[in-house]
Amino acid sequence: MILRKSARQVVPPERIELPGGYVLRRMTVRDAPALSVAASESIEHLRPWMPWATPEGVSVEAQSLRMSGPAWSWTPDSDYGYGVFVADGRLVGALGVHRRVGPGALEIGYWVHADHIRRGIATESARALTDVGLALPGIRRMEIHCDAANVASAAVPTKLGYRLVGSEDHEPESPGEEGRRLIWVMYEREWKTAQRQNR
Ligand SMILES: CC(C)(COP(=O)(O)OP(=O)(O)OC[C@H]1O[C@@H](n2cnc3c(N)ncnc32)[C@H](O)[C@@H]1OP(=O)(O)O)[C@@H](O)C(=O)NCCC(=O)NCCS
Repeated sequence: MILRKSARQVVPPERIELPGGYVLRRMTVRDAPALSVAASESIEHLRPWMPWATPEGVSVEAQSLRMSGPAWSWTPDSDYGYGVFVADGRLVGALGVHRRVGPGALEIGYWVHADHIRRGIATESARALTDVGLALPGIRRMEIHCDAANVASAAVPTKLGYRLVGSEDHEPESPGEEGRRLIWVMYEREWKTAQRQNR
């Protein structure tokens, strides 16, 4: 799906259907209990890579607080938080589209429930959000960052055709991290080419 310029929206769609019957849907504070359950069930899997993956961090209270902040207001300059849902409504993953990499760019972050990994959920969700991000006004570049030790995470931008443009040292925030952050980018023009080649 490449969104045409004429179809550009100022904020992303709140619901996107993915291959395999998965649905990406805007998360609100009402989803905090489901997010908390999925993250709690996955805590051992998330702990090496996600600094908030602690008993307190995955609690309904902590997740509600996070989701009620201005970053989640779904306005033209906010961040955007999506859940990945299966047909019966269970939440099996979460993605964020963040404005923390400077003007003209958005960064995608993700995690998937431990029982649902290796089914393409992260790749297909990040593919859809790359489309969505590059269709937003003023956005020319999408980025994905991960620690160099996080092989599974790095495979996602690689599969989508993102380009590794560099790395930077960072203070490890989670026990699995080695302290080198890989930076992957995708520009609008490259994305169109990558998508044509994928068809
Ligand atoms: C990283 C993560 C989101 C990947 O989610 P996923 O839905 O399993 O990813 P996909 O199914 O789209 O897999 C994409 C590719 O990643 C690679 N991959 C996924 N899990 C892997 C693993 N455990 N080991 C090695 N490679 C792995 C594979 O190449 C895979 O493609 P393939 O299955 O066709 O071989 C998931 O492992 C996760 O939640 N990890 C913990 C949280 C995290 O690290 N988030 C990212 C922080 S930067």
